[in-house]
Amino acid sequence: MDTIKAVLSRTSIREYDPSVKIDEATLLKILETSASAPSSWNLQPWRFVLIHSPEIKAKLRPFMMFNTPQIDTAAALILILNDLDRYAMFPIMNKMELDAGMITEEHFKVRNQKAEQARATRTKESLDREGLLDCGIVAQNLMIVAQAYGYDTCPMGGFDRDNFMKVLEIDANRYKPVVLISIGKKAKDAKPTLRFPIRTITTIK
Ligand SMILES: Cc1cc2nc3c(=O)[nH]c(=O)nc-3n(C[C@H](O)[C@H](O)[C@H](O)COP(=O)(O)O)c2cc1C
Repeated sequence: MDTIKAVLSRTSIREYDPSVKIDEATLLKILETSASAPSSWNLQPWRFVLIHSPEIKAKLRPFMMFNTPQIDTAAALILILNDLDRYAMFPIMNKMELDAGMITEEHFKVRNQKAEQARATRTKESLDREGLLDCGIVAQNLMIVAQAYGYDTCPMGGFDRDNFMKVLEIDANRYKPVVLISIGKKAKDAKPTLRFPIRTITTIK
C-alpha cells in the first residue's frame, strides 16, 4: 500500500472482527517497523506492551472506560509507554553502534559518560514532555504500518492508567502510559470525521 493511501485510509476503528487473530511474529514486525521512528537524540524512549492474552484482557477490561468494544473485539492491544529512565538503556545502543563500527572506542566512552550525566541531572518532567512527542510519532507510525499490513487501529487515551499499570505489573514511576492502540480487522466503519481546511490551519509567510 502506498504511503498516501495508508495515511488517508486510516480511521479509528472501534469494532473489529473477533474471529481475526494476528500472529505474534506479525505484531512484532509491525512494532519493529514502527520503531524506526525518529526520537530526540535517538533515545527511543518508547516501550511497547503487546497485550493479546485473553486472561490479561479480561483483567484489563474493567479499566477500559468507554472503550470496551475495542478490547472485546480487537486481535490485540498495544500500550505505548514513555521510559523516564531511558538513559539507563543508552549503553546498550552505544555498544551496538561500537560493534557495528559506527563509532570509535573513545567516542563510545565519552557518550556513555554524557548519558550517565544526563541520567543524573535531567528532570522527570522534561523527560516526560520530550518523550510524549517521540511516543506520539511512534504511535502514528504504528497505525500507518498496521494499515499497510491490512489491519485497522484505534488510538485510545480513555483507559484507567493507574489500574492498567497495576494489572500489567509495570513500574509506574519509571514508565508513563502514553496511548493504547487496538489492532485488528474492522467489522464496522469508523464514524465519519472531517479535517479543517488546510488554509484555516496554515500561516504562510
Ligand atoms: C491521543 C488520542 C486519544 C484518543 N482516545 C480515544 C479513545 O479513548 N476512544 C476512542 O474511541 N477514540 C479515541 N481517539 C480517536 C479520535 O477520536 C479520532 O482520531 C478522531 O475522532 C478522528 O477520527 P479518525 O481517527 O477516525 O480519523 C483518540 C485519538 C487520539 C490521537
